[in-house]
Amino acid sequence: MKKVNIFLMFFSVLFMVSCESNSTQDISVVVANPTYVSNIGPIFNTKCAGCHSSNGQNPALNNYENVKSAYINGKVLCKIEGSCGSIMPPGAKLPQATIDMIKAWAVNGYVNQ
Ligand code: HEC
Repeated sequence: MKKVNIFLMFFSVLFMVSCESNSTQDISVVVANPTYVSNIGPIFNTKCAGCHSSNGQNPALNNYENVKSAYINGKVLCKIEGSCGSIMPPGAKLPQATIDMIKAWAVNGYVNQ
């Protein structure tokens, strides 16, 4: 019985994720304990660092320390949720599953690897 429940849970999560994604490029995998190296860094590298690099738009979002301090300083979360002016990345809101994973990473204490 337990096995069946885990099986069903897995597929309902998979189903929810597949509904949120509108392109195969979306990085929207539900991970219970996301780390910067495995889960969070790849999102910021592909979705933000193109503009937010050390010589680019503030805040720099191109490595662990920069992403962590920008998140702690505020604005990153409200920008990706679109609740404080322009949404980030501009014109292309991240899938909700990705936003939730970034939040979980922060709540868990910004685990690096
Ligand atoms: C195409 C370029 C581009 C991409 C990609 C991009 N940004 Fe931005 N970002 C900007 C520009 C330009 C501004 C300044 C103007 C504005 O706030 O709209 C900005 C501003 C910000 C700010 C500062 C807001 C403030 O008022 O201090 C934050 C935080 C931010 N972006 C986070 C992100 C995050 C997180 C991502 C990735 C999920 C991202 N951005 C992706 C161009 C980009």
